[in-house]
Amino acid sequence: MSINRPIRARIAAAALRHNYREVKRLAPQSRAWAVIKANAYGHGQAAAIGALRDEADGFALLECENALALRAAGIRQPILLLEGVFSTADARHLSAQGIASVVHCHEQLDMVLAANGDAPLTLWLKLNTGMNRLGFDAAGLRAARHRLQGLSTVNLGLMTHFAEADGERGVAWQMDHFQAMAGDWRGPVSLANSAAILRHPQTHRDWVRPGIMLYGASPFADASAQALALQPVMHLESALIGVQQLQPGDRVGYGGTFTAERPMRIGIVACGYAATSPICRERASVRRSRCGAKVRGGR
Ligand SMILES: Cc1ncc(COP(=O)(O)O)c(C=O)c1O
Repeated sequence: MSINRPIRARIAAAALRHNYREVKRLAPQSRAWAVIKANAYGHGQAAAIGALRDEADGFALLECENALALRAAGIRQPILLLEGVFSTADARHLSAQGIASVVHCHEQLDMVLAANGDAPLTLWLKLNTGMNRLGFDAAGLRAARHRLQGLSTVNLGLMTHFAEADGERGVAWQMDHFQAMAGDWRGPVSLANSAAILRHPQTHRDWVRPGIMLYGASPFADASAQALALQPVMHLESALIGVQQLQPGDRVGYGGTFTAERPMRIGIVACGYAATSPICRERASVRRSRCGAKVRGGR
């Protein structure tokens, strides 16, 4: 299907590689999972993989089916399921395809253990150190480690996720919780998201997990992407498709949220929502026929 609307999101593979190299420059002792969840933060999983397949130490994402697609596309690096498995069927693919998985609760451990044969398996136990979304508490972690004891085919890592690495509260309080929970743990550790990679080098450890910074966006309110030496990966281009002459007091668009204070000539850029559902398509065609002109998109 050809797409004729003038709006285009262009993905700069070179910028994605530059940002990944920034991660490696900042965390030279760590390996880095390129986080490509949510369709590579809206940039397109295929485009992100194309850019990083010869560069990234590994890839981290949410859906088992997307992880399998990476394997099918010939990606050989470690792949991590950031939210873990959702079924025993998912879990069966882990050892078969060499996919690593986060395990954040005992139900997931049940699935993984029910599915696991004798093949090697890499699991990252997730600790709830204060984000309070996913992860074991101290007792849960002890029980999980106990359940995994003696399974020689299971390689284990510990990980957590920071809630405020980009803010004033920082990471020290969660690092303290992590340390208290991990105790004498000597195995692999993964802690850092983008903000921690950029501002908290003590968090880098064995694997870092950069997401937002890979795409050229700053995680901080007080520092621009440019100031952090990150390059934008997505460039949005469009075209002017209409020109209107306004008089003072004229309002523009739904709800009249803009009011002209002086005579103005304004341009209308094709940059609105796309008509994808039947209802939207119907609305778009009504709009076209009411206008009698080929005005596309735009709320
Ligand atoms: C577990 C985990 N690690 C890493 C990331 C990447 O985070 P960021 O985009 O802040 O770098 C995410 C994103 O939500 C995540 O859920």
